[in-house]
Amino acid sequence: MRTVLIAALGLTCAMPALAADMPPKPVRLGLCAACHGETGMSQIPGAPNLAGQRLDYLRKALKDYRDGSRDVPLMRAAIGPVSDADLDQLARWYSAQTPQTQAPAQP
Ligand code: HEC
Repeated sequence: MRTVLIAALGLTCAMPALAADMPPKPVRLGLCAACHGETGMSQIPGAPNLAGQRLDYLRKALKDYRDGSRDVPLMRAAIGPVSDADLDQLARWYSAQTPQTQAPAQP
């Protein structure tokens, strides 16, 4: 029994493949991380968590900021210099993250 367990453990460790669905870390992640965190957990008051949001929702939100139908100067400025391809990579990245539990915000 023990051997089986150890073998199973070994197998699990040899499988970073559990994260196989995780998209590669986007090059532009640094632009967003100050506010949304690397893993999509908000770093500042007022910034939403992005972790685990639906991909189509994130894509639409970014498109709406881009074309101004969602008029938030902060986000428009943040994504201004980012190409559509990079934005798509970011949306995939954040969507693939698992939301973490978070300490409640300090008042
Ligand atoms: C200076 C802080 C800041 C930076 C940098 C920033 N954001 Fe945001 N982001 C915000 C705030 C604040 C909101 C909420 C805006 C609103 O009310 O619509 C937001 C909203 C969003 C939303 C919509 C979330 C939702 O639930 O509707 C997405 C998607 C998003 N940001 C992606 C990004 C990406 C991708 C980047 C990097 C290219 C980025 N943000 C950079 C502050 C920031």
